[in-house]
Amino acid sequence: MTMKIGIDRLGLYSPNYYVDLAELAVARGVDPNKFIIGIGQSEQAVPPAAEDVVTMGANAASEFIDDIDKSQLGLVILGTETGIDSSKSGAVIIQRLLDLPRHVRTYEIKQACYGGTAGLMTARDYVAAHPDRTALVIAADIARYGLASGGEVTQGAGAVAMLISANPHIMTVEDDSAFLSADIMDFWRPVYTDLALAKGKYSTEKYIEFFQQAWAEYKRNTGLDLKDFAAINCHLPYTKMGMKALKTVLPDADAADQDRLNANYALSTNYSRRIGNIYTGSLYLALLSLLENAATLTAGDRIGMFSYGSGAVGEFYSGYLQADYRDYLNGAAHKAYLDQRVKLSVADYEAMFNSKLPYAPDDVVTDAALTTGKFRLAGVKDQERQYVRL
Ligand code: COA
Repeated sequence: MTMKIGIDRLGLYSPNYYVDLAELAVARGVDPNKFIIGIGQSEQAVPPAAEDVVTMGANAASEFIDDIDKSQLGLVILGTETGIDSSKSGAVIIQRLLDLPRHVRTYEIKQACYGGTAGLMTARDYVAAHPDRTALVIAADIARYGLASGGEVTQGAGAVAMLISANPHIMTVEDDSAFLSADIMDFWRPVYTDLALAKGKYSTEKYIEFFQQAWAEYKRNTGLDLKDFAAINCHLPYTKMGMKALKTVLPDADAADQDRLNANYALSTNYSRRIGNIYTGSLYLALLSLLENAATLTAGDRIGMFSYGSGAVGEFYSGYLQADYRDYLNGAAHKAYLDQRVKLSVADYEAMFNSKLPYAPDDVVTDAALTTGKFRLAGVKDQERQYVRL
């Protein structure tokens, strides 16, 4: 019998502030229905300067890290495209903040929004080779396009942390991936700026094309079809995006299968609709949202996963829900956290957006009062970022 490998734990963190997108639409002179219905986003998480991918990633992992056997950890990977340094990885800082063992292989992976999946697949292979070890994979990002830019409505911030192990409690990650890569310029972030550049329409077209090609290859390789899936989760730069891709293949399924996949897709978008794009973490935010909101799923259900990272890589794979998966989720706490966040006015959102640490060698002290997680970026001193545990 082949060994089961997959996601044993899931943790989530997103900042405590958000901007209401109907209010943002009005401020930008746009019909709110374009943002709420046309794009499919209602709220957008806004990170204070004291939070970055390191603090958000550590906060997401802190949801379960003290409940696991840390001595089994052999690998820690941070998937991000919002790195805090061109050389040193944020993963080693997370290793320190979480008190992880020293004898752990620790690094960061970048390939736009695909970095989390790249980390997950590397972790899967690692556990296959070392079944008694586990791997921590963190997907964390801050999506920034700029005030009043075309992509502004698709910003967001947050992190999803996953523990990968043999005999996982939540969902297996099957060895059935179909993937493709190509050198295209649909979205990128030049090193002189933290604002993303995107060819909006082109990136949308490429996402759909990569989905179709990965799905066709997956079907060829596995003989599986839409009827075999309880749900299909997609990378969600905005919640309409995955549905645009799914819609191109759903007519191949019968009505009952279409209804099930449509209903579960809607549930997979609940959290993204309120947090926004978290790039590498978005697909895993969709998985969390589905598992914590879908009452009809049961153990043994097959879940499809489509990952897309501009530039570009696409990958389709699947996993099976495990017998006690509901016992290892934290849905009530995640929903309560989202509900208690502080709403910013558009002016306060703009001020927080502009308060981000500058690309400059200056010393900075951040406002500690604005963070809620256990870990915080206190500032920069002598060009070294200062991280603290609260
Ligand atoms: N009521 C309801 N829907 C409305 C509307 C209204 N008043 N006004 C517009 N819409 C709909 C449009 O019909 C369109 O629907 P469709 O996509 O089903 O055709 C949708 O809202 C978006 O409108 P559009 O004019 O295409 O938006 P845009 O030119 O502002 O671009 C993005 C949208 C997502 C491309 C842009 O925000 C962007 O560049 N984002 C960053 C890149 C990105 O996320 N890429 C995704 C792939 S990785």
